[in-house]
Amino acid sequence: MDDRLTEVDASDLLRLAVEIAREAGDLARRRREEGVRIAATKSALADIVTDADREVEQLIRDRLAAARPGDGFLGEESGAERGTTDVTWVVDPIDGTVNYAYGIPHYAVSIAAVTGAPDPASWAAQAGVVFTPAVGELFHATRGGGAWLGDARLAVTERADAGALLATGFGYDPATHEGDLARVRQVMPIARDLRRAGAASLDLAYVAAGRLDGYFERGLQPWDHAAGALLVTEAGGVVGGEPGGRPGRAMTIAAGREVFDAVASAIYR
Ligand code: IPD
Repeated sequence: MDDRLTEVDASDLLRLAVEIAREAGDLARRRREEGVRIAATKSALADIVTDADREVEQLIRDRLAAARPGDGFLGEESGAERGTTDVTWVVDPIDGTVNYAYGIPHYAVSIAAVTGAPDPASWAAQAGVVFTPAVGELFHATRGGGAWLGDARLAVTERADAGALLATGFGYDPATHEGDLARVRQVMPIARDLRRAGAASLDLAYVAAGRLDGYFERGLQPWDHAAGALLVTEAGGVVGGEPGGRPGRAMTIAAGREVFDAVASAIYR
């Protein structure tokens, strides 16, 4: 199957993603109102999963399987399953789990449909949704169809003459914090200020919306950036990793061209 879906196909994927993200987001918000229980820790003490993460991912997985039984799935909580079509759904049921657990409304449901191998090193994102149930904002994009917040078209900022408003994130593993802080020191000379808001999909959505001039983080998983990266490129921005590379665990940088180059050279000079 050709991995460049027609606009109509990508729109179909988007429609499904939007419908499921809204239902999943409503469930996450209801569970948050009822009180959140931390179910387990994952890679580190700070890396938590709540019962709601699992329940919301199961809902998304069930809805996708019912609507498109042949597609593959790659989710934060329940793992990967190869499909028989060229489409894989890449899902973070609650991005910003620590915010969610603390009652901070900055969390999102992130759903992307990608084609090709289910590997961010080579996949082509076709449709992506980042939905904030507590705030009610729905960011969405299709490949070639632009990035949108509701019905407003999004565009990244072109320049940041007074310094760039940048965002970053820190890995859960304390062993990575020295490196994270060293990178912060490296980029501060080009920054107006720095944000660490706690949900990578929203950091990327905010770059797409021009609410941030740029974002960088080491250690992201595929579901953290699959939908958000499409938002940024469809808003006219650039998303990359290590010099010349694609976004991934080693590095993710997202911004308009000028700020992207400035951040990349600050980190890799
Ligand atoms: C995390 C958030 C956080 C980022 C971490 C991610 P999760 O995702 O996006 O902002 O710094 O790297 O793992 O665990 O809340 O889904």
